[in-house]
Parts: sequence; structure tokens; C-alpha cells
Amino acid sequence: MIRVNENYSKLQSSYLFSEIAKRVKTYQTENPDKKVIRLGIGDVTEPLPPACIEALHKAVDEMAARATFRGYGPEQGYDFLRAAIAQNDYQSRGAKIEADEVFVSDGSKCDTANIQELFADKLTIAIPDPVYPVYVDTNVMAGRTGKNSKGRYKGFVYMDSTEANGFVPALPDQPVDLIYLCFPNNPTGATATREQLASWVRYARENKALILFDAAYEAFIRDPSLPHSIYEIEGARDVAIEFRSFSKTAGFTGTRCAFTVVPKSVVAYTKKGDAVPLHPLWNRRHTTKFNGVSYPIQRAAEAVYSAAGKAQTRALIDFYLGNAKLIRATLADLGYRMTGGENSPYIWVNVGKDSWKFFDKLLKRAQVVTTPGAGFGRCGEGFIRISAFNSRENVEEAMKRLRKVLK
Ligand code: MLT
Repeated sequence: MIRVNENYSKLQSSYLFSEIAKRVKTYQTENPDKKVIRLGIGDVTEPLPPACIEALHKAVDEMAARATFRGYGPEQGYDFLRAAIAQNDYQSRGAKIEADEVFVSDGSKCDTANIQELFADKLTIAIPDPVYPVYVDTNVMAGRTGKNSKGRYKGFVYMDSTEANGFVPALPDQPVDLIYLCFPNNPTGATATREQLASWVRYARENKALILFDAAYEAFIRDPSLPHSIYEIEGARDVAIEFRSFSKTAGFTGTRCAFTVVPKSVVAYTKKGDAVPLHPLWNRRHTTKFNGVSYPIQRAAEAVYSAAGKAQTRALIDFYLGNAKLIRATLADLGYRMTGGENSPYIWVNVGKDSWKFFDKLLKRAQVVTTPGAGFGRCGEGFIRISAFNSRENVEEAMKRLRKVLK
């Protein structure tokens, strides 16, 4: 008899962004004449930087000639891209990351989900609340939790991120094995200082724990005092894996390219307590289950690091940060408290009431899609997340509508 993975029955019926898409589709079907503006899922709207497009075209032409055609590439990514990442994202900031510690992939969502295959079934996992739902759901699927009760799964150690702690959770008050962190944070937009990250690294070293650090939004950091990578912190190489993506940095959500950094010194332990390096394990997993990102896409990603690419991606992010500024100003005028939107594309707004109700009100009365905070965890209740990813025209129009509906 074929048995089903019953852990799936513990999950909420649908993934947060699928539920939102469903509600928006229903509304749109019932109101075909209304123009809905999407500030919900963090999906980019502006075209790829010209340097990427140029590299993409050139690589496609190479694929059209026998002499330059390429078949399977290295599963871990082409050397040219791994070297560009190591140099520009890490070594240039004083972080000692080598090209062969970078694994190129088609997305951080998949990487943050897949990485947990390397760990034992029974683990104590620290999860921030609110949180990007993928970290939670994938561990539920893997059977590392009990049932959900009132929005929380038994077995996780939840770390509350609240207004009181500036949305940077305190260290757990019990030993944990695996810690998920994301800065700039999705969904709150909060950032972590060097000292805060250093305290996490110290905790992980003292407890033989591992940090999974999601830095998908690092390119939005404008405050020069803030670290972009956990590897800027002394000792992090031994206790952290970092996830990055070209999705939000350079508009690759539809193009797909990301990477995970697994330093050769990072370890997990056997039952007996022997240290096992994770780099060869992830390499084994990656080469067995993944055949690499396509050559043209990796060339496009490499172009992000050219002089023109750097200027163009910075301008792209500045554009979205300009949207964020507009959103912040509008919400502040309307009397709301918020965080994020300064070193992050997300604005986390305290709406003080049922967040799904607030979401529905904005959808139905302003035709503006946001993300209800409750979808990110119990501590998200009472908040909504507004994404700055859209055209200026749409953001201006959305803010006009919010002023009318929320005044
Ligand atoms: C979000 O809106 O939280 C992100 O776009 C989701 C993702 O990157 O998968």
C-alpha cells in the first residue's frame, strides 16, 4: 500500500501567496472593470538591467553556433559566475568566501527549503515570528513538528519579533540546533546591526548550532553601518550558511538565478558528536538533484557585477526604494506606525486589527493588494506588509486610493 506523507495534513490548506492570489482572482472575476494594484507578493515589475539583457543576447547567440554551444554546465554553477560572486559580494567586503563555496541555483525559495535535507530528522529549530512561510512549511513537510495549534506548530522554538524588540528577536532561552534568520527581514523590513549578528554567531558557536541566513534583500541596504552578509562577522564561516538571490537585486524573479554559500568550514554533528563538513554534503545533494542554471541566465547574472551592471542595479533598487519612501510617507500621514522601507522593499504597518479583514478591506474598497501579517505568523497579526515592487504610477495611484479609504 502506497503511504502518503501525513505531515502534509498538518499544513495550512494553502501557501500564503497562493491564498492571496486566489482571493484576488475571485475579486477580479466578480469585478472585471476594477483595476487592481498589486503590492502583495514581492514580485518585481521593472525590466532587467540593460547590461544583463546584453549579456543574455550574447549568450543566446553563442548557443546558436557549434563552436560556442554549451550542453550541461557544472551543477554548482559556471566558474565565471561563482568567481564574480565571491569577489564582489564577499571578498570586497572583507568576507573570506571562495568561489568554490558558492553554489548557483534557480532560487532561494528552493534552496532554503532543500537545505534541511542535510540535517537529522529530530532537531530543535528556532523560527522567527513573523517569518517567510517557506522555512516553516518545509520543516513541517519533513516531519520535524507536531500539529498546528492557534497558528503555531508544536516543536518549533518561536522567536517573537515585535515592535518592542525592533523586530529583531532575542536569542532563544533554551538550546536550539538550527536557527533561521533573514535580514533585511521579510516580512518586517527590519535590519540587524553588526553587534546583533555577532551575538547570534556567538550563540551558534557556543551551542554547536547552525544559522541559515537569508540575505535575499541585502542589496536594499543603504545604511553603511549595516552588514550585508553574515560572513562579515568574525567566526560566522564555521556556523552559517547564507542564501542570496538575483530576484530582488536585479529583477530576476521570472529569469531565476540565486546562490547559496556553504563555507568549507561549516559543520554539523553526528549523534556521537563528530563534526561533519556540510560543503561536501551540499555538493553531493546539488550534483545529484540539480542540473544547473542555464548558461545564458548565468551570463546575465554575471553582468550584474560589471561596472554598467552595478550602476544599473543600484538605480533599479533606488527606484523601488523611492516607491517605499512614498508608501512610508502616505502611511505616516494617515497616522500609522511602521517599520521597513528604508533598507528594504517591504513596509510593515501596524494596522491594529485583524489583518485578513484589513487586507480584504483594502482589496475591496481600494483595489490594492497587500499581504496580511497573520499569514507570516502569530506575531504578524495586527500588521500588513506593503511591497514597494511596482511602477511609480501604480504606487502613486495606490497611495491616492489608500488616502481615500483610510482617512
Ligand atoms: C515575498 O513576497 O515574500 C517574496 O516574493 C516571496 C519569495 O521570494 O518567494
